Amino acid sequence: MNKPRILVARCVFPETIAHLSQHFEVESNQDDQDWNGAELIERLRDKDGAFTTGSVRIDAAVLAACPRLKICANMAVGYNNFDLDAMTARGVLGTNTPDVLTDTTADFGFALLMATARRICESEHYLRAGKWTKWRYDMFAGTDVHGSTLGILGMGRIGQGIARRGALGFGMKVVYHNRSRLNAATEADCKAHYVAKEELFRTADHLVLVLPYSAASHHVVGSAEIALMKPTATLVNIARGGIVDENALVQALRDGRIAAAGLDVFEGEPKVNPGLLTLSNVVLTPHIASSSVPTRKAMARLAADNLIEFFSKGRGLTPLNPQVIKA
Ligand code: GLV
Repeated sequence: MNKPRILVARCVFPETIAHLSQHFEVESNQDDQDWNGAELIERLRDKDGAFTTGSVRIDAAVLAACPRLKICANMAVGYNNFDLDAMTARGVLGTNTPDVLTDTTADFGFALLMATARRICESEHYLRAGKWTKWRYDMFAGTDVHGSTLGILGMGRIGQGIARRGALGFGMKVVYHNRSRLNAATEADCKAHYVAKEELFRTADHLVLVLPYSAASHHVVGSAEIALMKPTATLVNIARGGIVDENALVQALRDGRIAAAGLDVFEGEPKVNPGLLTLSNVVLTPHIASSSVPTRKAMARLAADNLIEFFSKGRGLTPLNPQVIKA
């Protein structure tokens, strides 16, 4: 019997290609070329499945042009690159990589918070530029992390991981807002208190964004929300760029409306708003929150195993739209 045909749409670990090749006829993009929609379709048209990452858009046009496609396995927990409704309408399964990246991503969210609050990158650039000629009492004085109020918008697994780090490791008071309130046991475990969204913006000393991106969360943080924040507050975004109105953020950081921001994700990434690049009170990282070697390997493995599970057993391990699977 012919093996199913798979497209691996971005460069991945060689071991992932080797693993997939035991089960599938694999076409890969190990040169990591940037394909436009038409170039993606050209390669996906004759495939039964796709291994994708967050930069590979699977929308109605792609689906219409690729009628053989039955599954897209995303190597990411976020899946805003999928038009999931269009996939469901065509009976195409989508899968993502939850759980395996939770702690690594929570670690990074906390690292970005600390770097932002304690001005680590700004001071490092100063030192490297040869500007450090003497010690001063107020040199790069930032804001404290321990004992402060940690605000979390989006309290899924990663948000809960950040809450635990803040509460248990740094004695922070944790407040959060989420579409639905956590049950009492989970709140107690995270030592987190549910508050209305406005109160979250008003009370947080350090606000971390960890909510999924969708039309409903587009620009959830704009000038009106930033205006509610304390002038000493910091904002950290490890979710998706589109959640923050970047122009409003640039203006607020320029005006000293809030103290600083740490951003791992950007509205037009990999392009970065030029306004952000001119500011010293931002820490900017290239969408690497889940990037430890073991975690990226675990994500690649889970995405590959979703494809294997689907073609061998007719189901996914971490399906997003399980309703497309026939009972
Ligand atoms: C990364 O941003 C992910 O969604 O896994």
